[in-house]
Amino acid sequence: MSITILITSGPTREYIDPVRFISNASSGKMGKALAEQALKNKCKVIVVKGPSVIDIKETKNCKVVPVISAKDMLAAVKQNLKFADIFIGAAAVSDYRPIKISKNKIKKKDIGSDIINLKLIKNPDIIRYVSNHKKGKIVVGFALETKNLLSYAKTKLKEKNLDMIVANGAQTISSKDSAPTLIFKDGKTKKIKLAAKENIAKEIIYEAIGLLKTLKTC
Ligand code: C5P
Repeated sequence: MSITILITSGPTREYIDPVRFISNASSGKMGKALAEQALKNKCKVIVVKGPSVIDIKETKNCKVVPVISAKDMLAAVKQNLKFADIFIGAAAVSDYRPIKISKNKIKKKDIGSDIINLKLIKNPDIIRYVSNHKKGKIVVGFALETKNLLSYAKTKLKEKNLDMIVANGAQTISSKDSAPTLIFKDGKTKKIKLAAKENIAKEIIYEAIGLLKTLKTC
């Protein structure tokens, strides 16, 4: 059986005007490491990739779909979900976007004040969409927190109906290594020692494939 893994990676960019945007420090390193490990495990990979500095090479077994915003990311995920056995949401999706994108560059003289009010609206939750359409698929998410990491991650696992969540401290976001705890739907946890993202990805892919095999034999 050939397994296809759909991965979201990197940040999203939410434009305010043609030259300015809201984003975050996600490097896309984890998404790339996951794609490489999936390929090493003879899986096919589709990476829906936000605009990160890290590049992912497209090959016969690795399709790369570049996107900019969370809305673009959701559209690309919807298009590719039917091919996936496993979905891994490694992207740092912007939670909010400006309600309106100014057609022209916003000029200071047009604001007429030292304070600018930016009205934001909630972005769609991509992984939640996937979980709502997950029949026969394994869904893996990430949690990045500055406090109460494990309890927030467990709540997220439940609320987003995930099979596994990778709980990371906030220092992980642009670093080359991490020491996450993997939390599973059945309550089991697995603490991983500090290691390069390539090694962490190896553990995540191994566990995700294991969950898929269990699902398929049930
Ligand atoms: O809710 P929070 O952003 O902390 O959840 C993190 C997990 O949810 C990650 O797996 C991330 O990729 C995913 N997510 C998403 N769409 C969003 C927000 C988060 O897929 N709009």
